[in-house]
Amino acid sequence: METILSLQHVNYSYEDDNGELIPVLKDFSLEIQRGSFVCVLGHNGSGKSTLAKLLNGLYQPDQDSGPILVDGLNTRDEKNELEVRRRVGLVFQNPDNQLVTTVVEEEIAFGPENLGLPRDELQKRVDEALLAVDMQEYRNHATYKLSGGQKQRIAIAGILAMRPQILILDEPTAMLDPKGREEVLSAVRRLNREQGMTVILITHHMEEAAKTDRVIVMKNGQITADSTPQAVFSQPQLIRDAGLSLPQPTELTHRLIQEGFPIDKEVLTVEQAVAAISKMLKEK
Ligand SMILES: Nc1ncnc2c1ncn2[C@@H]1O[C@H](COP(=O)(O)OP(=O)(O)OP(=O)(O)O)[C@@H](O)[C@H]1O
Ligand SMILES: [Mg+2]
Repeated sequence: METILSLQHVNYSYEDDNGELIPVLKDFSLEIQRGSFVCVLGHNGSGKSTLAKLLNGLYQPDQDSGPILVDGLNTRDEKNELEVRRRVGLVFQNPDNQLVTTVVEEEIAFGPENLGLPRDELQKRVDEALLAVDMQEYRNHATYKLSGGQKQRIAIAGILAMRPQILILDEPTAMLDPKGREEVLSAVRRLNREQGMTVILITHHMEEAAKTDRVIVMKNGQITADSTPQAVFSQPQLIRDAGLSLPQPTELTHRLIQEGFPIDKEVLTVEQAVAAISKMLKEK
């Protein structure tokens, strides 16, 4: 598979009020493959948002840092700045802070309009983006009347209309109810599966992580695990050390195993827990 994002020995520090440099990312290396669906987990302050902002050029790494390459473009290079922003779409936590207009259609056209695209191209992008997040019938609706999940999907559509190569979502469901969370997550999953969009999902919800291809665990600005969700969540100690918890179905089956019940280990979802527990009961 082809590498689309690459960080090589990256350092990032910020200056505190006393002018002292505080390191956030230290010797941080990571490669992300085109078309993959990657989840980043980590306790508050572990550096997840910093990573997202470095990847789309909002932040620049330290002077002594190795390079960050987006689709081969070095984010440090000033001439790449606009192209890097365009290729890496960032979606944040609060949809209300991301919506700038009052009508759905205008909202989605806002970014591409600034690229100076012709009318029909603009229309085409709006149509495609609305379809991608399953919001076609809301085209003429007022943005402020939408639910949180709908607003967040419009925010995503606005980013999609810019035709990014990579979508980074920084806790996109943190402010949503379970229904809104599921709406947003299934839209993102579809984008990955059907359009091959490279997705990086930063989340505090373990069940969301369980449904991605690759889970990266961060602690104090470093990667402490990087593997499939199955492999990462089969290490409860590692998860606890990172200040995280297991997905609930995984926690449940681990505890049953501790109690001596012969249950299959690799359970991540409710469906898998039901299957594993049913199997055990039938075999008894
Ligand atoms: N420009 C900055 N000014 C001050 N502090 C910063 C700056 N950038 C990063 N930090 C600090 O760096 C650390 C990592 O922050 P970051 O926002 O990346 O964490 P996070 O993993 O996204 O956390 P959360 O789960 O709370 O969103 C924090 O301690 C944060 O306060
Ligand atoms: Mg954050």
